[in-house]
Order: sequence, then C-alpha cells, then structure tokens
Amino acid sequence: ADSLRALAAPTGLRFGTAVVPSDFDNPAYAKVVGEQFSVLTPGNEMKWQLVEPTRGTYDWSGGDRVVTFAQAHDQLVRGHTLMWHNQLPDWLTTGVSDGSISNDQLRALLHKHITDEVTHFRGKIWQWDVANEFFANSWDPHPLADGINGDDFWVSHLGEGILTDAFRWAHEADPHALLFYNDFNIGGEDGTNAKADAVYAWIKRMRAEGVPIDGVGSQGHVDTQYGYPRQLTDDLRRYASTGAKVAITEADVRTFVNNATEQVPTDHLAEFAQPYEFSNMLKACLAVPECLSFTAWGFTDAESWIPDVFPGEGYALLYDVHLNPKPVYTDLQDDL
Ligand code: XIL
Repeated sequence: ADSLRALAAPTGLRFGTAVVPSDFDNPAYAKVVGEQFSVLTPGNEMKWQLVEPTRGTYDWSGGDRVVTFAQAHDQLVRGHTLMWHNQLPDWLTTGVSDGSISNDQLRALLHKHITDEVTHFRGKIWQWDVANEFFANSWDPHPLADGINGDDFWVSHLGEGILTDAFRWAHEADPHALLFYNDFNIGGEDGTNAKADAVYAWIKRMRAEGVPIDGVGSQGHVDTQYGYPRQLTDDLRRYASTGAKVAITEADVRTFVNNATEQVPTDHLAEFAQPYEFSNMLKACLAVPECLSFTAWGFTDAESWIPDVFPGEGYALLYDVHLNPKPVYTDLQDDL
C-alpha cells in the first residue's frame, strides 16, 4: 500500500510526525520516518531547555540532526517551540524566581533566545511554532480580557505585548519561515469553544495590526473518553478566514490501556474510537485548503508521551509498540 506521504502529496497536504532524533540510530525507526512522512517536528530538541541547558552555551545537535535527516529524505521541518511556559532551562526559571533575573533582563534573554535560534536554523524551517499555549483554559482562574492566560509565565512577567514582540523578533531573524501560534483545545476538544473563539478574535486582530503571524496550529491531543473535536473543521475555516494558514500539529488519540508496555485498550470499543477520532482530525484538515500539514505527535506508541503524562493511558498513535501499523494507519490511508 502507498505511504502516507505519497497519498497526501496530491492533496497538497504534508503528513508529519514528531521525532526523537537519537532514534534515527535504529534503522527500523528511521525507515518508517523516511518512508511515511513529509514533514518532521523535533518532539523536544528545539525547546529552550534543550538548546541552552547552561546559560550562554548552545546545543543545536538534536535539532540539527532532524534538519539533516529531513533534507536527506526530501522532508520539511516544523520548528517547535520558541516561547512556552514549559521546558525552560533551570537557570532561567531559578533566576527569575530568586530575583537575580529582572523582568528587563528576562525580556532581553528571550529576544536573544528567539533571534539566536531562528538565525541558527534560518532557511531550514518551514513553520515555526513561535508561541505555544498562551490562551486560558476553562480551569485557568485569571484570563485577560482577550482570553490570554494572565498567569502564563511570560505574560505575568512581561505583559501580553510579549506575544507580538516574539513574532516580530522571529520574523526579523527569518523572514521566509511561516510563523505559527500553537495551542490545544482550540477545535472543540474540551466540549466548549470559548478558547477557540478567543484565539480566532486574537488572530484576526493581530493580522489586522500587521503582526507577522502566518498560521494557527491546533495541537489535537484527543482522548476517546471525552469525544472528538466536533467543531474542528469550522474552527480551522474560521482561522483561515483571517488570511492565516492552519495546521494540525500534535495529533494523538489516547485511551485507557492494560499497561504502558503493550498498550492494549481495556475497552474494545476504543479500538474503533481511536481510529475514528484520528480520522476526523485528518478529514477536517483535508476539508480546509489552508491546512498545510497534519502532524501526529510521534508514530509508534513505544515513543508516545502519553503513558508518562496520563497514567493508565496510551494506544495514542499510528503504530503499535512493536512498530506494526495499527487499524488507524489504514483508516488514514483510506481518508487520503
Ligand atoms: C511533550 C513531549 O512529547 C515530551 O517528551 C516532553 O516530556 C513534554 O513535552 N504540547 C506540546 C508539546 O506543545 O511540546 C508537548 O511535548 C506535548 C504537549
């Protein structure tokens, strides 16, 4: 049967996966990545914590390895992510909390981080996730008037204007990269659409003000027990109506499993629900011409972040823990 990347090509969509660059050493892993996907995202290796573990000393090796692999396999790269509250270097968070890094210094450090990272990878990144997860969820207690989370690390220290600055700094360092705002629960995954409404209004305003934001990434972390993102197609269309591109950036569909090693669903119905929900996300992307790429957050359940972060859950990706394609793989082939 045809690969996902080959089936996606005539639709104009790139089919992607997050990768663990050190796993390229495993020939079976590298073979699937090279054959099946046309855009790669380093799962962690472009995050600030990994690129500058010690203040002033950069380690680009993981990100470089993804870029080199991608170029050798005629693939593009999504850079992930320049500004996020998670996976920051310890020296940075410690310095902020003990007062040795002032807000002015924090702003200068972020400017340098964005400029240096985007410059290092200039010309090699198709889409950058400039800002990740800034909008408030229903459970966040202090949303700002426009829906941005007032308690966010960056916003609480530097104000929400830091978002526009970050996009401008990234654009200066690589004017050709497509700059994305990326978030979760912005396609109805949480059963409401308040967060998506806020992101839509914000993107529309940012673009009207000339802020260089080219796209909106909908992460797509779904759980079979909560139902699928029913409003995704409409939400993607709405973001695209502002002139923005859109992408599904981190798709996975998790469910409860027997154990983290084998990841067999405890409820047999989940074996139907998992492919169904994955397929719905792909169909939404296919239905919207501005949807540039559909990226799964990894491909083998063996490497998924889910068992570590959602205890008892797994079975979230396209291949099982032994690297055999699952029913969802065939369903996605059929959709393309
Ligand atoms: C996850 C990685 O997959 C894990 O390996 C890491 O321990 C934590 O981060 N949203 C995002 C991603 O934007 O960067 C996260 O990736 C998953 C949730």
